[in-house]
Amino acid sequence: MLELAILASGSGSNMQSIVDACRHGSLPASVRLVIGNNSKSGVLERARAAGIPTIHMSLKTHPDAAELDQAMARALGESGAQVVCLAGYMKLLGPRTLAAYDGRILNIHPGLLPRHGGQGFFGRAVHEAVLAAGDTESGPTVHLVDEIYDHGQTLAQSRVPVLADDTPDSLAARVLEQEHLLYVDTLRRIATGEIKLSGL
Ligand code: GRF
Repeated sequence: MLELAILASGSGSNMQSIVDACRHGSLPASVRLVIGNNSKSGVLERARAAGIPTIHMSLKTHPDAAELDQAMARALGESGAQVVCLAGYMKLLGPRTLAAYDGRILNIHPGLLPRHGGQGFFGRAVHEAVLAAGDTESGPTVHLVDEIYDHGQTLAQSRVPVLADDTPDSLAARVLEQEHLLYVDTLRRIATGEIKLSGL
């Protein structure tokens, strides 16, 4: 059984698909803690509704960045999480958290890294860049997290076509459907040992 913590800022549909897969037994894992940096985010509501412990943690609750980092590393450690999943988490992690979970922090990005990644490339901006570049394919990437945005080793990708009449919204919806499948599948492969994380 793989013990997970999820960090997220937004609506939490990726968090939900991971929680659902754990509950249905298709993912041999359990979500021990959800940390959100936005107290009003859908992800915290969804996690509470699912009966999962939640913490709101941000520069509002911990105005000093080093204290925030320390509190986050402590909360993750106390939760018993072995792997941390960023699922639409809009902040860089601090050095203590990164060190405590080195090689065991995953992120999902809504584009085919290394294309269309880095600071500023999140959400709609990624899909706009894909369309502007005339790419014929897009899709999500699950990768390891380090101190640089969208930079760590890629673990898995899946591909969807970009259609001639796509808008950023229609492309985002097609990619998001794949995100839900890819994140759960990647975690399943980690849980079963098919993907080996050096830190696990
Ligand atoms: C997803 O598109 C993910 O790739 C990106 O942020 C979005 C989060 O969506 N990192 P949700 O909150 O899981 O619905």
